[in-house]
Order: sequence, then C-alpha cells, then structure tokens
Amino acid sequence: MFLCCWLALGALIPLTLATDPGVKVKLTAKGLEYGRQLGMAAIQKKLKTIRVPDISGKASVSPIGTVQYSLTNGCGIANFHCSSGSRDGPFSCHVLPKDSGSFDLNVSDLTVGASIAIKSDETGRPTVNSVGCEATVGSASIHFHGGASWLYNLFKDFIDKAIRDALQNQVRGKQPHTFCLTAVLAKVDQYAEIEYSMVSSPAVTTSSIELGLKGEFYNIGKRQEPPFSAAAFDLPPQTDNMLYVGLSAFTANSAAFVYSTAGALSLYVTDDMVPRASPIRLNTRTFGAFIPQIAERFPGLMVKLLVKTSETPVVTFEPNNTTVQATGTVTAYAIQPNATLSPLFVLNLESSASARLFVNVMRVAGNVTLNKMDLTLGTSYVGEFKVTALNSVFQMVLKSVVVPQLNVQLAKGYPLPTIGKMTLVNTKLQVLKGYMLIGTDVQFNSTHGASQDSFLPWGTTL
Ligand SMILES: *[C@@H]1O[C@H](CO)[C@@H](O)[C@H](O)[C@H]1NC(C)=O
Ligand SMILES: *[C@@H]1O[C@H](CO)[C@@H](O)[C@H](O)[C@H]1NC(C)=O
Ligand SMILES: *[C@@H]1O[C@H](CO)[C@@H](O)[C@H](O)[C@H]1NC(C)=O
Ligand SMILES: *[C@@H]1O[C@H](CO)[C@@H](O)[C@H](O)[C@H]1NC(C)=O
Ligand SMILES: *[C@@H]1O[C@H](CO)[C@@H](O)[C@H](O)[C@H]1NC(C)=O
Ligand SMILES: *[C@@H]1O[C@H](CO)[C@@H](O)[C@H](O)[C@H]1NC(C)=O
Repeated sequence: MFLCCWLALGALIPLTLATDPGVKVKLTAKGLEYGRQLGMAAIQKKLKTIRVPDISGKASVSPIGTVQYSLTNGCGIANFHCSSGSRDGPFSCHVLPKDSGSFDLNVSDLTVGASIAIKSDETGRPTVNSVGCEATVGSASIHFHGGASWLYNLFKDFIDKAIRDALQNQVRGKQPHTFCLTAVLAKVDQYAEIEYSMVSSPAVTTSSIELGLKGEFYNIGKRQEPPFSAAAFDLPPQTDNMLYVGLSAFTANSAAFVYSTAGALSLYVTDDMVPRASPIRLNTRTFGAFIPQIAERFPGLMVKLLVKTSETPVVTFEPNNTTVQATGTVTAYAIQPNATLSPLFVLNLESSASARLFVNVMRVAGNVTLNKMDLTLGTSYVGEFKVTALNSVFQMVLKSVVVPQLNVQLAKGYPLPTIGKMTLVNTKLQVLKGYMLIGTDVQFNSTHGASQDSFLPWGTTL
C-alpha cells in the first residue's frame, strides 16, 4: 500500500521573512512511517463505510444476446483485511459482502496515495493540507454462487468494471482537509508568548521533513526585537526517534530578554523568606557585625533586599553544559518602624549558574544551581566596608531564596511545538553546542473519541 509517500510543497515562504530559525523540527522516516500506519488504519476504518453501489446496465453476452442487469441493495464491506508484503508494494483486500448468500466481491490491489502540502498560512502557521488523494483499484471481481449464478457469471466482467469505478470514486472523492502543525503563538504566562511561525521553506526528502520555526519569545502585547538574532544551526543526523526538536540558545535568550525587559527578573527578599533553619537572619544586627555604621544608625531593624538583573542574562549551550550568566544588583534597605525603607548600600552582582533541562509533558523545563557569585560595591550609604565580608550572607540569600524561587518558575516549563494531540514517549534531551536537542517518539490517542479523524497525522484524510 502506498500512502502519503510523496509530498508537494505549497506556498513557499516569502523571502523577506527568511531568517535563521530559532527552532528546528525534524520528522524522521520512523515518524513518517508511524504517520503512514495511522493513516492506513484510518483509511481501513473509512473503507468499511463504503457501500458497493447499486449497479445496472445492459450487456451483450453471447450466446444469450443483450442482457439487462441490475444489482441493488448495495452491500457494505463487512470483512476487510489487508496484507502488504513490502512497504510500498501492492496489497490485496478480500472483501465479503455482509449479505453473503448471493455473491462474493473480491477487491485487490487497492492503492491509495495522499499528496500533502506543507505551507504556511497568512499568520505564518505551518499547516498541512491534503491536496489530493489518489486511489486505484486494481481489480474488483464479483463471484455469484447458488441459484442462477451460472447465468450471472457470464456477464460479471461488466459488473466488475462498474464496481471498480464506483469504489475508486468513493475513495477519491473525499474533501481535502487542513490541520495546523502547531499553534503559532503559545502563551507561556502573563509576560511571554512563544512564536512558532515557519521562517524557512520546509526541507523535504524521501526520509525526513524538516521545518524551520521562528522560536522566539515575545512580550505579550508589546513586541520588541532583542538586540541579537538567531544563529544558523544544523540538527544532527540522528534517526532513532520519530521527532527531533532543536531549541537554540537564541530561543532561550529571547526568553531572558522578555523577562528582564518586563522587569520580571527582580525579587524582594525579606527575612520571612529565609529558611527557618538558617542562622543568618536579615536584620541590622547581621549586617552591623560587618558594617559598624549600620549597627549605630539602624539598631534593631529588619533588612529587606532587592535582587534584580541589570542586563539580560545570557544562556549558553555547550555539550552537556548549560550555563546562565547574570549581571545585576543587590540593594539593601533597613525597614523603619513606620515601614519606610532606608537604603544601606547597592552591590553589583555577577553570577553564573548551571542549568539542568528536562521535558515535562509537552513543555521544556529547567532547574538551575548557583556556581559562582562575585560582588563589588556599587554605592554605599553607610561608609566604606569590605564587600567580601558579606559573601556568605549573599551566598545564603541566593542559594536558599532567589534560586529556589527562580526554579519554581522554570519548573512550570515552556510549551514545545506540537503536532495535533500528541503524547511524547521515549523522550531524551541532550545539550549540544548552541542548542538543545529533544528526541522523542510520539503517540496519538486513537481511543479518545473523534481524535483519530480530527488530527490524521501528516495530513492523510479520507
Ligand atoms: C481474490 O482475487 C485474488 C487475485 O485475483 C485471488 O487470488 C483470490 O483467490 C480471490 N479470492 C476470492 C475469495 O475469490
Ligand atoms: C555528554 O554526556 C553523555 C552522557 O552522559 C556522554 O555520552 C557524552 O559523551 C557527553 N558529551 C560530552 C561532549 O561531554
Ligand atoms: C560549561 O561551560 C562554561 C562556559 O559556557 C564553562 O565555563 C564551564 O567550565 C563548563 N562546565 C563544564 C562542567 O564543562
Ligand atoms: C519614618 O521614620 C523615619 C525614621 O524615624 C523618618 O526619618 C521618616 O521621616 C518617617 N517617614 C514617614 C513617612 O513618616
Ligand atoms: C533543582 O536543583 C536543586 C539543587 O540545586 C535540587 O535540590 C532540586 O531538587 C532540583 N529540583 C528539581 C525539580 O529537579
Ligand atoms: C492518551 O492516553 C493515555 C492512556 O489512555 C493517557 O494517559 C494520555 O493522557 C492520553 N493523551 C492524550 C494527549 O490524550
């Protein structure tokens, strides 16, 4: 059976849009084969609804002369089983009518080919259209038995041809169908959405389809391009999984740009956020031990810290190694009894964290660990002091308050591009130079109501 094995490319992407994709998606031969099998299952299901049409006509049959024939009460295809030797080879279907008393119908060499087009719609959303469905029925032969079968069998050739044409038309005459490969805009949270429009023409070979998607985070409602752009990258030639998704450092950095521009990378830290078990408390006694002026001018007060980035953090993907470099400030305030904040000092912070990335359902998520932290004095309102003396206090604040809070956000994850209602299985995530690679098999639930007909992966429709 030959199904969905050639692909036509529709409406190519206007050249003005062509930029390097931030995300690449590759469907391997294994993925295409899985889609073909699902398509075949759907076709077989559909074929059971085909009725052998009522047929009538006149035939000249020797030695009887002209015979008028009529076959009514079209039978459904009750027993349908297909076998196929080679992947694309011919296969035959043996079809027996429901009402089996009077005749057998044998259909063989039914070939169905769907041609699909991968295009981008006006919003840049990748869509798959089935642009044509070819069906040929090699032969249909009817065999009458019982009663006057000897007589019917004389003009069965005419009936065979009529049945063949009728079946062919029924398989072919189904409406084209479009579905979208992925949502073009995937909302992440109140700040960000990810755009997955197609930015380059799909690369289609006999064994794979590769799509280049924008893969850029945007601030919801306030679009602003970051001061950097995507760098070209190539997916490795791996083929063990059905689907590979490469997410580049550009995508991660566009996220960092959106969150830092939106002011989301800032956190007030107060003493109640510090773990109870910590001997270090955020009050003027702690800081007064290192900076005498604080003990003198602000005795017995609690301290509040504002930790925020001052530049967009930079995410780097090196083999097996994801690092996040952040530059920011830490401002310390004494909280007056009337709740006024009195600034104590501002420190400049350089920090480096390593990230572990993982896939959680249909989202990619992360968890960072602080590696390094460097503090230098920005402004002091309490005289001169030695910043390194405060290292242990700020190590504790970053490790036990700031990083865990960030990890709560990162654990929620960011939506991956999807194809229909798929579930990921055998998912692996590797970090390579310049991008992370998610290799996965997919499963579509055929048991869930209408799903099989509504997504028909890779565009097969009947
Ligand atoms: C159907 O046709 C095939 C090939 O024409 C033949 O080998 C097979 O025996 C036929 N089956 C029936 C049930 O007539
Ligand atoms: C990355 O880690 C994997 C598994 O731990 C290992 O097989 C591979 O060699 C590592 N690659 C590099 C460049 O270190
Ligand atoms: C990870 O990469 C960073 C540079 O991006 C490097 O400084 C660091 O040493 C690397 N870590 C490991 C464990 O290779
Ligand atoms: C709050 O208290 C501080 C210190 O006592 C004082 O300097 C400041 O003026 C007060 N602010 C208000 C708004 O009352
Ligand atoms: C994240 O990493 C920290 C160590 O830095 C670990 O304690 C925590 O369990 C990790 N969280 C997840 C969800 O893996
Ligand atoms: C598919 O079915 C499995 C088991 O029946 C279920 O756990 C999973 O959530 C379903 N996935 C989707 C996308 O409906």
